Amino acid sequence: TAIAHVVGARPNFVKAAPVVSALRGRGAHQRVVHTGQHYDDRMSAVFFRDLGLPTPDVDLGVGSGSHASQTAALMVGLEREFVENPPGAVVVYGDVNSTVAAALVAAKLGIPVAHVEAGLRSFDDTMPEEINRKVTDRLSDLCFATSPEAVGHLAGEGIDPSRVHLVGNPMIDTLLGNLDRFDADALRARLDLPERYVAATLHRPANVDDPDSVARLTGRLHEIADIVDVVMPVHPRGKASFDRAGLGDHPRVRLLEPLGYLDFVALTRGAEAVVTDSGGVQEETTILGVPCLTLRPNTERPITITHGTNRLVTEADLLATLDKVLDGHVGERLGDTPPLWDGRSGERIASVLTQWSR
Ligand code: UD1
Ligand code: UDP
Repeated sequence: TAIAHVVGARPNFVKAAPVVSALRGRGAHQRVVHTGQHYDDRMSAVFFRDLGLPTPDVDLGVGSGSHASQTAALMVGLEREFVENPPGAVVVYGDVNSTVAAALVAAKLGIPVAHVEAGLRSFDDTMPEEINRKVTDRLSDLCFATSPEAVGHLAGEGIDPSRVHLVGNPMIDTLLGNLDRFDADALRARLDLPERYVAATLHRPANVDDPDSVARLTGRLHEIADIVDVVMPVHPRGKASFDRAGLGDHPRVRLLEPLGYLDFVALTRGAEAVVTDSGGVQEETTILGVPCLTLRPNTERPITITHGTNRLVTEADLLATLDKVLDGHVGERLGDTPPLWDGRSGERIASVLTQWSR
C-alpha cells in the first residue's frame, strides 16, 4: 500500500518535497494528494515546478471557504480519496486546514497518521493554526518535531514519547538543497528592484482581515518606505484590503504578485531585512542570516529567536527596530543553527516512515 502525502497550501509543498524525495530514493510506493486549498498557479503549481515535486496523483479541488465549509469539503473529498485508494499511512504537514482535515479523516478510517512539524505551539488559540496543530498532534500516530521545545510540548500534553521523533526541519532541507538557485542579483535585474530594500509578507488573519488593521499597517509600511524601499509580494488574503488602503501609492513601495519559491527566497536573500507574519519565513531567514522582524505578539517558532535572526515586533516598535537593523546594530544571528536543521530531515523522516509502515 502507498504512503499518501496530503498537501494543499503553499507551505505544505515546501515541507513535503524533501520527504517525498527521500521516500522515492528508498523505492517507497507513494501517492501525492493535493486538496486544492490553494489553487492559483502562483500559490500552488509554481512550487511543484520549482521543487521538482511529482504532479499530484489527484487534486481534490476543494478551494476556498469559511473554516467550517472548507474543512468539511476537505474531509468529504479526503474520505472519498482514502476509501477509493486506501493508503497504508497518511503523512500531513504543518498546520493548515488541509492538515487537520486529513488527520481527522484518516484517524476515523483507522489509517495511521504521521504529522510533520508536530509540537509547535504559539499558546494563542485565536490563531486557527493553533487549533489545527493541537488536534492534528492528538490524532497522530507519529509526530515529527522540528525543534527540541516542540518535543517538550508534546510530552507536556501526554503524548507517548515513543511516537515522537526529533528530526529537524524539512523546510530547511528544501532551502539548503536549493541554495545555489536563489539568485538575488538576477531577480533584482529581472524585476528592476532597487539595490537596497526591505521585503515584506503579511497574511495572518489577525493582521490582514480587519480593514482598520490593514490601514494602520499600511501607515507603518509607508513610514518604512520613507527610509528604505519596500518590496512586498502580496498574499491573496490581504490583497483587496491593502489595495483599498493605498499601500502601493507610496513611490518606494513595490507590490508584486505572490512569488514562486525560488524567486521568493532570492528576494529574501537580497533584502536588508524582512518584515513578516509568516511561519516559514521566520525559519528561512534564520538560516540565511537575514534579519527578520515578525509582526506578531507571539511565535510558535521561538528557536528562530534564540538561535536565529528573528524578533517579535509590534506596530509601535517596528520602525525603531528596523532602524537599528539597518544601522547594523542588531540583526546578526543570535545563536548556533538550530539542532538538526542540516538538510537531512527528509531522510530521517523517510527512515522512520519506512520502518514503521513495513
Ligand atoms: C492558509 C493557512 C495558513 C497558512 C497560509 C499559507 C489555514 C486555516 N490557513 O491561509 O495557516 O499560513 O495558508 O499561505 O489553513 N486565495 C486565492 N487563491 C488561492 C488561495 C487562496 O485567491 O490559491 C484567497 C481566497 O480568497 C481565500 C483566501 O485567499 O478565501 C484565504 O485562503 P485560505 O487557504 O483559506 O487561507 P490562507 O489565508 O491562504
Ligand atoms: N513564499 C513564497 N512566495 C511568497 C511568499 C512566501 O514562495 O510570495 C514561501 C516562503 O519562502 C516559505 C513559504 O512560502 O517557504 C511560507 O508560506 P506562507 O508564508 O504562505 O505560510 P506560513 O509559513 O505562514 O504558514
